[in-house]
Amino acid sequence: MAKPKVYVTRQVPEAGIDLLRDACEIEVWEGELPVPREVLMDKVSGIDGLYCLLTERIDAELLDAAPRLRVVSNMAVGFNNIDVEACTARGIPVGNTPGVLTETTADCAFALLMAAARRIVEGVDYVRAGKWKTWGPMLLMGQDLHGATLGIVGFGRIGRAMARRAQGFGMRVLYQDAYVAEADPGLGATRVDLETLLAESDFVTLHVPLTEETHHLIGREELARCKATAILVNTSRGEVVDPDALYEALRDGQIARAALDVTEPEPLPADHRLLTLPNCIVVPHIASASVATRTKMAVMAAENLLAGLGGEPLPYCVNPEAVE
Ligand code: GLV
Repeated sequence: MAKPKVYVTRQVPEAGIDLLRDACEIEVWEGELPVPREVLMDKVSGIDGLYCLLTERIDAELLDAAPRLRVVSNMAVGFNNIDVEACTARGIPVGNTPGVLTETTADCAFALLMAAARRIVEGVDYVRAGKWKTWGPMLLMGQDLHGATLGIVGFGRIGRAMARRAQGFGMRVLYQDAYVAEADPGLGATRVDLETLLAESDFVTLHVPLTEETHHLIGREELARCKATAILVNTSRGEVVDPDALYEALRDGQIARAALDVTEPEPLPADHRLLTLPNCIVVPHIASASVATRTKMAVMAAENLLAGLGGEPLPYCVNPEAVE
């Protein structure tokens, strides 16, 4: 019997591809940049399985060009790049990679929080620029984490992992979540509404998925509620924050600093005005990028794909109803 055909939209950690090799006929897009839409449209016409990333838009038009497609496996926990309803309507299960990246993503969010609080990037730039002439009693003074209040917006897996880290740093933790009613009491976190969280937090960290409800969840009004000393950390999706409002808030001192792993647009062009601000640090969507975690994600995405090709339930499926 002919092997099912699979298209992989970028080079991913080898362990993921190795799992597919025996069972499938694989083609991998070898480019460093995302596969162009027209190439992907052409490639999907003859495939049974699609192994994709958050850089690909999987919508009805693409699915209509893929008459044989039986499974879409996204190597990411977020799946806002996929029109899940369109997949469900066509009986196509969609896989994602939750869980394995929780701690790694929280590590990075916390690293960004600390880097912004203690002005680490400004310090590195200062030394590299040859400006370090002496110990300065007021040089690059930042903010303490211990004793400060951390506001976690979105109290799912990654939000809770942030709460655990914050406990170790002696922080007070507030959280807001539209769906999670009660937190594990062991986390020492207090549920509040978004207004209270913004008004009381020294650090605000975002951990919500991107949906219609969370698009520009943090805009002008929300930033205006924050303390002037507040630091905003975003490792969720860029579109959760209105970038114009954020630029103005940082420029005008409405909040103190921001540390972003995700942006709108993404990638952020090198001449974007957010990058002109010394109080804004941006890294290129790397929160889950540890060797171990990206390997686990690649393997999980392969396992989801293989299950879908075999007509089995996907170990991690965002729309199990597609095949019920
Ligand atoms: C990364 O942003 C992911 O959703 O896995």
